[in-house]
Amino acid sequence: MHTKGILSGKKVLITAGPTQEALDPVRFISNHSSGKMGYSLAKVLLNYGAHVTLVSGPVHLKLAHPALRIYDVVSAREMLAACQAQFDETDIAVFAAAVADYRPETVATTKIKKRSDIFQIRMVRNPDIASEFGRIKLPHQYSVGFALETNDELEHAREKLVKKNLDMVVLNSLNDPGACFASANNKITLVRPGVSPQSFPLKDKRLVAMDIIEAIAADWANQAKLSSQSPLEYENMYR
Ligand code: PMT
Repeated sequence: MHTKGILSGKKVLITAGPTQEALDPVRFISNHSSGKMGYSLAKVLLNYGAHVTLVSGPVHLKLAHPALRIYDVVSAREMLAACQAQFDETDIAVFAAAVADYRPETVATTKIKKRSDIFQIRMVRNPDIASEFGRIKLPHQYSVGFALETNDELEHAREKLVKKNLDMVVLNSLNDPGACFASANNKITLVRPGVSPQSFPLKDKRLVAMDIIEAIAADWANQAKLSSQSPLEYENMYR
């Protein structure tokens, strides 16, 4: 299969890194995402000739390429706004960011002072970027989400596939030593509708990105083949 031929010129939207949800001018709620997984995907896709828009939370990584646009964002709502502006022209969306599901209901305008022994924060739901794309996605658009799990991994990944209307979920588990957050490596299982889950060994995130992208290209080629078939040919395939 010619992954390069399939992905060349495709418009790919990638989210990467964490989001930070402000509590006051000096504090925020966030997570351990380094952005390495999302940036590795961007690098490999650029090598395959794709046009990449990378919407990145705060990370310490740099990437430059003539076919790359980077939007730096901080919060989940900023990430959603930057992504929404790209949704219409996206062929393939890959949601690798670790987006905060909740944010503090209010952001103090001055530094919160230490007063009582217990300090409670009331949180409200953030928008779900992958679900927003899933809601308006057109038949020719393809979306990939990640599932970062600690238990009942496959079950949760399958739930996300359906709930967020994704074409593929890349499952990674915090139970796998040396995988997921900040590490140079990751260990993934690809979960797709109607196909047995495909597990890969622990490897460098760049090689992991190649495995994910080859699977996307294979699905994309298959989808294009199906949609170019006459309704009769299509029906016969599923007899
Ligand atoms: O950045 P690294 O240090 O390299 O680490 C990589 C990673 C572990 C962050 C990455 O591989 C990963 O798993 N990213 C997704 C983490 C996550 O938030 O998973 P989730 O199961 O909570 O979310 C499911 C999917 O919905 C994800 O595609 C996520 O990007 C998306 N989502 C979630 C919440 C939200 N409000 N908006 C979203 O788009």
